[in-house]
Amino acid sequence: MTTPAGTPAETSVATSADTFTALYGHAPDGTWAAPGRVNLIGEHTDYNQGFVLPIALPQAVRIQARRRDDDLLRLHSAQGDGVVVELRVAELAPGTVSGWAGYPAAVIWALRDAGHPVGGADVHLDSEVPVGAGLSSSAALECAVALAYNDLYGLGLSAPELALLAQRAENRFVGVPCGIMDQMASMCCRSGAALHLDARDLTIRQVPVDLAGAGLALLVLDTRVKHELADGTYAGLRADCERAAALLGLPALRDLDPAGLPAALGQLPGELRPLVRHVVTENQRVEAAVARLDAGELAALGPILTAGHASLRDDFRVSCPETDLAVEAAVAAGAYGARMTGGGFGGSVIALVDADAADTVAAAVTAAFRTAGYATPRTLTAVPAAGAHRIGQP
Ligand code: GLA
Repeated sequence: MTTPAGTPAETSVATSADTFTALYGHAPDGTWAAPGRVNLIGEHTDYNQGFVLPIALPQAVRIQARRRDDDLLRLHSAQGDGVVVELRVAELAPGTVSGWAGYPAAVIWALRDAGHPVGGADVHLDSEVPVGAGLSSSAALECAVALAYNDLYGLGLSAPELALLAQRAENRFVGVPCGIMDQMASMCCRSGAALHLDARDLTIRQVPVDLAGAGLALLVLDTRVKHELADGTYAGLRADCERAAALLGLPALRDLDPAGLPAALGQLPGELRPLVRHVVTENQRVEAAVARLDAGELAALGPILTAGHASLRDDFRVSCPETDLAVEAAVAAGAYGARMTGGGFGGSVIALVDADAADTVAAAVTAAFRTAGYATPRTLTAVPAAGAHRIGQP
């Protein structure tokens, strides 16, 4: 029932190069890939300057690109309607490009806005990252373009610098006030490891995660729902967290010592208390998860994941009936633990299972969804994959 985590990006390079040449009449200068992600634990902590623990997925956005001498930007997507979008980079400005082309345009705008005098390019994009599944397809797209431009124009920017530019592109050009987790995961993750990221200073540590060695598997159950309130609600939650920190006289909620939590909650209006409780306890769960990974006790992550889901459901209130049911059904079927991953209001649930129980757990969730009248979830198995990289010469 479960499908392998995806075709390695390298296998379809030749096909994309052929498409590129057919589209533009010349070969690309190179091919790059940037992955989607699942976050193991640490949700809604990044914009509170706290901690996260994502892994990159094998599913990636591939980009074939060739630098141009003028400022024409030609964009084609294998997932688009077949049209080549033509833009002038000097004219890019927030609000001028919508749809999928807005993401590459946003990155090029952000590079120029930061003082990098980049020009045009011919671009072909092909994504394996499911859209709307909470697996960071947009960050993968942004990071793929950022890395390609870094090479095409010899910018010499580091992976964290490119992640920050991609985040700025999304914040300012696309208009989504996301934190830094998704772009840092796509740029900086390594194969076989989770990225322990301090979202305040971008300190990272690669924490080994050998699921197969422990006889485990990480299921990703895409609920195939994305509730409409997602975008405005995310911005509102972020603003509420920042208001709570200001009321407590702190730079960010990350600075609230867990020992001081009960007293701090007493100083806050009722509606902010559960949000603050989630952020503080979630940062603790990230540290607990890293300790378990360092100790080689991977199955012990399970209860931490499930506790994280309860906090997102009851305190932060970003789960929904579909993600709650997927978690409940997975745990009832024998998962060590499960939780929604990403921003919430739908998207995907992760479940930590014995490798030989993966099909049983996936089938139990599918059956529970059928009984509830929900769409059939899409199931992947995740293995920690590499972050953004150049994948060979065309
Ligand atoms: C989205 C955002 C991230 C992060 C998560 C919640 O994925 O893009 O920055 O805030 O939600 O953890």
